[in-house]
Amino acid sequence: MPRVGVSELVTLSRVIAGGQLLRYRGGEQGFTSQFEEKLTKQLGVKHALTVNSGTSALISALAAAGIGPGDEVLVPAYTWVATAIAPLAVGAVPVLVDVNESLTIDPEDIKRKITPYTKAIMPVHMLNLVCDMDAITAIAKQHRLKVIEDACQAVGVTYKGRRVGTIGEAGAFSFNQFKNLNSGEGGAVLTNDDRIFTRARMFHDAGSYTREYAFESNEAVFCGMNLRVSELTGAVLHAQLPKLDPLLKRLRKRHTMMTKQLSKTKKLRISPHNDPDNAVGLTVIFDRPDDAKNFAGHHGVERLIDTGRHVYTNWQPIMTQRTFHDKMNPWKWANREITYSNDMCSKTLDILSRTCRVALGAQYPMPVMQMRARMLAKAIS
Ligand SMILES: Cc1ncc(COP(=O)(O)O)c(C=O)c1O
Repeated sequence: MPRVGVSELVTLSRVIAGGQLLRYRGGEQGFTSQFEEKLTKQLGVKHALTVNSGTSALISALAAAGIGPGDEVLVPAYTWVATAIAPLAVGAVPVLVDVNESLTIDPEDIKRKITPYTKAIMPVHMLNLVCDMDAITAIAKQHRLKVIEDACQAVGVTYKGRRVGTIGEAGAFSFNQFKNLNSGEGGAVLTNDDRIFTRARMFHDAGSYTREYAFESNEAVFCGMNLRVSELTGAVLHAQLPKLDPLLKRLRKRHTMMTKQLSKTKKLRISPHNDPDNAVGLTVIFDRPDDAKNFAGHHGVERLIDTGRHVYTNWQPIMTQRTFHDKMNPWKWANREITYSNDMCSKTLDILSRTCRVALGAQYPMPVMQMRARMLAKAIS
């Protein structure tokens, strides 16, 4: 995450001094709108809509793309639980798909999990690692499925020259404390599709009666929610956006250095990456789970199977199919019986038990990270 500092404070104080904390205030361009405009230019995408969390962004994107009751949505078995909860919020059900050694959704398992009711794929770019978007978009095209990218953990990261979150029909970012842009809480929907943008805007603002763009006037108003951000969030994001690409550049440099050091030992392998020339996230894989567990004892290293609700077996409300009200339970109106079991994605569990994430420490000076890399390499050689 970028360091939060003086620029955020100065921009926040301007909002507070102006006394206009609400985002929408009748045509005047506040910091949130300016942030969106800059973000779209930086990412090369037509529309960005700031919302109050990554979960809200996923739900808005699914609702805007027309996903609803009876639909099945393919989600990876390794992701933050919110990815699997989002389809339920629009009445659809998540169908779990294995990840491969890249820690992202396995295109081969996507093919196996498609049914006549599948409507969307949600590839998740975990840990700044990118999905195999070429394979995923090809499958989606063949089966006429929507691709809603969960780029919550990979804000700004590129896949073969394109920013993730802008490749599918829609994408979602999170700006919570741990992400590449950090406003404490927050998120954004990204899309090149005017209609999806219009519908997401309505959904996030209780139907949004304001029509700022000509293309919006064709869309009939429907009931939405309030997932808006305040200008305080917009101000922090606006001040922080210039720090995003420098952050990714620092990660990239540390990735090259760390990979070089860790490649010296035969005791582990650098995990395969779907765009190795631009990698900004690093994971390593061992032959045996115990070796990964021991390696995770070192500072800045964690074994993925031990990361709580990122692993599907720990998604208790999903595994038990419980919702807040018995009659608002999408599994009950699914087109077929959907079942989950702890061993349903055993390939994922096997990979996660042998894989460790290695923190690249963008916040530390390079010599510190070089020393850490040498220590890690020595510890396992
Ligand atoms: C992969 C992934 N998807 C979705 C989310 C949800 O984002 P938020 O916490 O902003 O709602 C997160 C947040 O950690 C995430 O990591």
